[in-house]
Amino acid sequence: MVILSSYSQDENSSEPELRVPQTCLDPNLNQGDIASETNPSLEQGTARESLRPDNFDEYIGQEKLKSALKISMDAARKRQDIASMGHVMLYGPPGLGKTSCAYLIAKELGTSIKTFSAPALDRPKDIIGILMSLNTGDVLFIDEIHRLNKVTEELLYPALEDFEVDLNSGKDSSSRIMRLKINKFILVGATTKLGYISAPLRDRFLHVHRMQYYTHEELAEIISKNAKKLLVNINSSGLMEIASRSRGTPRIANRLLRLVRDYADHLEADLINEQIAHKALDLYQIDKYGLDKMDKKILEVLIQHYKGGPAGLETIAGLIGEDKNTVEDYYEPFLIQSGLLLRTQRGRVVTEKGLEYCR
Ligand SMILES: Nc1ncnc2c1ncn2[C@@H]1O[C@H](COP(=O)(O)OP(=O)(O)OP(=O)(O)O)[C@@H](O)[C@H]1O
Ligand SMILES: [Mg+2]
Repeated sequence: MVILSSYSQDENSSEPELRVPQTCLDPNLNQGDIASETNPSLEQGTARESLRPDNFDEYIGQEKLKSALKISMDAARKRQDIASMGHVMLYGPPGLGKTSCAYLIAKELGTSIKTFSAPALDRPKDIIGILMSLNTGDVLFIDEIHRLNKVTEELLYPALEDFEVDLNSGKDSSSRIMRLKINKFILVGATTKLGYISAPLRDRFLHVHRMQYYTHEELAEIISKNAKKLLVNINSSGLMEIASRSRGTPRIANRLLRLVRDYADHLEADLINEQIAHKALDLYQIDKYGLDKMDKKILEVLIQHYKGGPAGLETIAGLIGEDKNTVEDYYEPFLIQSGLLLRTQRGRVVTEKGLEYCR
């Protein structure tokens, strides 16, 4: 725990060494994106291949999140104090738009964003250096925020609440803690595991939003916009065919669009219709519910080895040869959302619908 004492500069103490970690975080970001970033064109490849929404109009769905943020951003702008919009926590399964939303907040506010993955902030100096480097109104985006270590988390508390940092100067017995003012900023935290975040940290966020899976119509709209960016010609039945197999997730919709585009280019077809999308996705083993091989395997091992369950997460992960976190964060939420699997206190259980699906 950091203890506050009155500051007196020790002549012998060296200047506290500050550094901004150069490790980049979001797998979608390039190394060059780590510093101040106002251009959200972050997906790999050339600009034309970038499918991140450029503004909130292109950010489809998540209506409650968007209206809550727009109200707070507007109010903060009217107060001429944009950081007063409050800190934002976005949680939910991968690929639902947490990172995209963080970039849009910065863009909408006309400020810079600095992005870090929590595991990269392993030393107290890291977070102090970053906090002191922020300009007024900057967005600090911490991905995988549930993985912050305890010391870093506690250093964040005064920064989030009072925009102050505790700086340790000097060494060992001669060390002094000085509390310094920093510029007001907005923290956007993203996580797939809200339950792993301590209450004191969570309570410092004004906005805490659960990302929702997307409807087929919303996904079709996203795919349609992205098809235009990729100069792909696709009709409405082709859009719905891809949307319905995208497991409610824009990142998957983008991936399937690219796969179907390859298939269409390979056939030299100049329009993607339902038939082409259907054939392509069958070829890539994406079924009509959006389930892939691994989803099916989870249901099948539960049925074969445990008569449908219950079975524990680690057991399932071991049986399918997949990492436990991937099963928990990626596969399970969609299986549960689709009504095929239940998470009970005794373990995971295949539902009637799941049994039916596997027959
Ligand atoms: N609401 C949306 N509207 C349009 N496109 C979206 C939306 N949400 C996500 N996308 C698309 O999906 C891609 C993945 O989204 P993003 O990286 O923001 O997800 P994430 O929640 O941060 O995932 P992770 O948990 O894996 O970091 C984006 O690059 C963008 O193309
Ligand atoms: Mg992300």
